[in-house]
Parts: sequence; C-alpha cells; structure tokens
Amino acid sequence: MREKYYEIASKRLIPPFALWKEIEQYGPRIISKGKGVYLYDIDGKEYIDAMSILWVVNVGHGREEIINGMYEQMKKINYVSLFGGYHHEKALELADLICSILPVESVFFSNSGSEAIETAIKLVRQYHYINGNPQRYKIVGRWHSYHGVTYGALSVSGIRQNRNFFEPLIPGFIHFEPPYCYRCPFNGVYPSCNLRCADDFERLVENEGPKTIAAVVVEPVMSALGSVYAPDIKEYYRRIKQICDKYDIILIFDEVNNGFGRTGKFFAYEHTEVIPDIFVLGKGLTSGYAPLGATAVSKKISDVFKDWMFVHGFTFGGHPISSAAAIENIKIIQNEKLYENSHIMGQYLGKRLNELYEFDIVGDIRGIGLHWSIEYVDDKKTKKNIPSKFWVAAKIEKELFKNGVYLARASVDRTYIAPPLIINQDQIDFIIQALKKSIYSVQKDYKSLVK
Ligand SMILES: Cc1ncc(COP(=O)(O)O)c(C=O)c1O
Repeated sequence: MREKYYEIASKRLIPPFALWKEIEQYGPRIISKGKGVYLYDIDGKEYIDAMSILWVVNVGHGREEIINGMYEQMKKINYVSLFGGYHHEKALELADLICSILPVESVFFSNSGSEAIETAIKLVRQYHYINGNPQRYKIVGRWHSYHGVTYGALSVSGIRQNRNFFEPLIPGFIHFEPPYCYRCPFNGVYPSCNLRCADDFERLVENEGPKTIAAVVVEPVMSALGSVYAPDIKEYYRRIKQICDKYDIILIFDEVNNGFGRTGKFFAYEHTEVIPDIFVLGKGLTSGYAPLGATAVSKKISDVFKDWMFVHGFTFGGHPISSAAAIENIKIIQNEKLYENSHIMGQYLGKRLNELYEFDIVGDIRGIGLHWSIEYVDDKKTKKNIPSKFWVAAKIEKELFKNGVYLARASVDRTYIAPPLIINQDQIDFIIQALKKSIYSVQKDYKSLVK
C-alpha cells in the first residue's frame, strides 16, 4: 500500500508550495494519525507536531469533544447554505460566540483565511461605496506579509516570490515597510529609530492621496517574515490607529495565525491598545477539524449593511459541521485557558531556543507566546544570507523529521516553531534536542560546502 501511495504522490497530486521532484526523490511523508501533540506516519513512527501542522491545530489532535460535536451535527443535517437569508443553529451560535470573545458586532463566514481576507477587502470597498466614497478603493498591506493566495489576498500580501508568477496583481494594492528590526529597512536601531516604520504608513497614505485609501491590513505578529512584531507593539499600533483615524481608513487585523491563543493572549490585538474595525479569522478557529474562515466587523461597518445586500458569499461558508467544530474548539480554549499555557510555555520555549545562538548559522531567534522563528545567516555579524539554493530551512526540516519532529516548511531561511497550545516542558525539551542535532548536522554540511 505504501508503495502505491508513493506512486500516486509522484504522479497525481500537485503539491502546494513544494517541489514535486523532491517528493519523487525522497518519497512523500504521509501523516496518518494524530493524538494530542503527536503525529504518526504511515509506518507508525511518532513525531512531535512542532508547528500545529501549519499554525492550525491549537487544541491538539484527536479531541473527542470536537469530533462528537461534528458528529452530532452531521446526524442532524449535513449542509445548509446561508445564502438568501437561511440559517442553521450552529452558524448562529458561533456568530454569537465570536461576538462574545471579540469586540465586534457581527460576523461573515467563509472557508479559509484567504477567503476571509477577500471578504474583508470586499466589505470595505462596498462600505465606502455605500457611504458615497467609491474613490476610496486602495488597500494597504505591508511588504513581506502573507495573507493568503487568492488574488485579493495575494495582492495585499508582500512576498515577492509568491507574487512573481501571477503579476499583474489587482490594481490599487499598495505596501509599506514592516517593523523588521533584525534587518531594518531604514537601517534604524530601536529606540533611536523612533519607530520610523509606523510613520512609513503615513508617508504612503500622503503620497497616494488619503481620500483614495480604503483600508490597511496588518498581521500583529507577522508569521511569514518569522514572528516579527514591533519592539514597542503598543506604541506602533497606537500610531497606525492614529493615522487610520486621521484619514478615515479602516483598520483590519489578520488574526488567522495569531488568534485563538497562539501569541499568549486569546487574540493578538490584546498585546496592543487598539481595537481594529475588522478581525480576520481562520486556522485556529476550528483547530483544523474542518475548514472555516470568518470576518468579524465592528458596529460601524455592520450598521451600513443593514440596508444593503453584501454582494458576496461562498457556498460552503459557515458550513454546519465546521461551525459545530469551531464552537467546541473555542469552548476548549476557554475552559482550559490555553492562551495562558501558550504564554507560559512560550516563555519556556523562548528561553530554550536562545541556546541555539551557539550555532554560527543562527542569526536571530524571536517570538511571542507559542509563535517562534529562527532566521539563519551565513555570517552573524554581516547578516549575510545563506544562498537560497542551499535551502537551509528545508534541510533542517528534513533532519528534524528524521529526528521525530514535524515542522512545516514555509520559508527558505527560517524555521517556524508553533506547537499546539497544550504542549508541556518535556515535549519542548524534545523539540530543542532535535533542533540542536539537526542544525548541527546542516551547519556542518553548509560549512564544508562554502569552504
Ligand atoms: C496570516 C495569514 N493570513 C491568511 C492566511 C491564509 O489562510 P488560508 O491558507 O487558510 O487561506 C494565512 C495562511 O497561512 C496566514 O498565515
């Protein structure tokens, strides 16, 4: 059977964000089972899931409460569409629950983070149109940010390699610089830089014409760039919000990865003193038991749609099984206060990760809660990059897998670490040991190559 699966993988399934050739060469890594923080491959070998698969499985694998909730719903009815004013109980209960855990008035459901971002973009464009400001159509994002892969989500994202093949992207999407202290785009050093990166937003708005700007989309703790957040996160977002208020721009927080306990608070906006107009949710909303995205909006936005149809919707948005999963998942996070464990274990993980600075190729280690990253470099002093063709993060990820740790690979020169929020110290110790072993071995290879 195993061989059969290998053949299918090399022929039949186009892999997302992976080299097909590589799968042919090494064989697919088939994950068959999961329980708690552990995964088991097709041969029964055990791994610690150090990435919640993809910043998703916050409550851990195999939670009976969620499985039962989904099963009960499935027995009642498998599918109801929310189109045209129909409802089902679970979507209503979930909308109410989300409005009780976030400072929002109402919610729109989709199936993924990308769709929830698309929804936010379309909501604000229609919002400004209804308010008599159709010229306010521009959406601001930050360079190096990831907000998804559909055209709107990709256009607001700022990762060059993801954009190359698909340009031209949607007109009217513009970007400013992120608060990336390790490689400050302004060559500044905090605090003497006076958070120039926040002011870069205002510069962009002024240059573009403030009355043309609809919204700005930011991920409070930037995932793809490697757990990047402003050194004074409160002051940074106070300034971003001040600029939004000054020019009447809608503030959107992408909490697809950050939300549901990941950063050591229930939601990442709690690290700031700012409440955005829109929250974008996905991933940890159901912990991956079923696909679901949500765009949760303030009263200011909600009220405008009381008399106007939102001309938008996904067939499966707010699916009853996904809604049932989300409800049980949120209850677990609340009852077990998993955001607190994320904070406590996050501090321990951070302390242990700091030991990795002993390696020459480890340039920077940063994170918050259970959202951590390692950035690799050729030279610590100059911060020179390791050539991308060496695929350093991929090599380390492969070594880790051999050493019993699963890490999704999403970057050329960064390792992301984001285990389920139920993780304990012993399990973190296991991950650190495996990281040490794996980095040691890849560093040795790299050094022998560049000699
Ligand atoms: C911050 C952020 N926003 C949006 C998305 C898109 O979510 P999805 O892959 O569910 O479409 C992702 C996915 O990784 C993400 O990290």
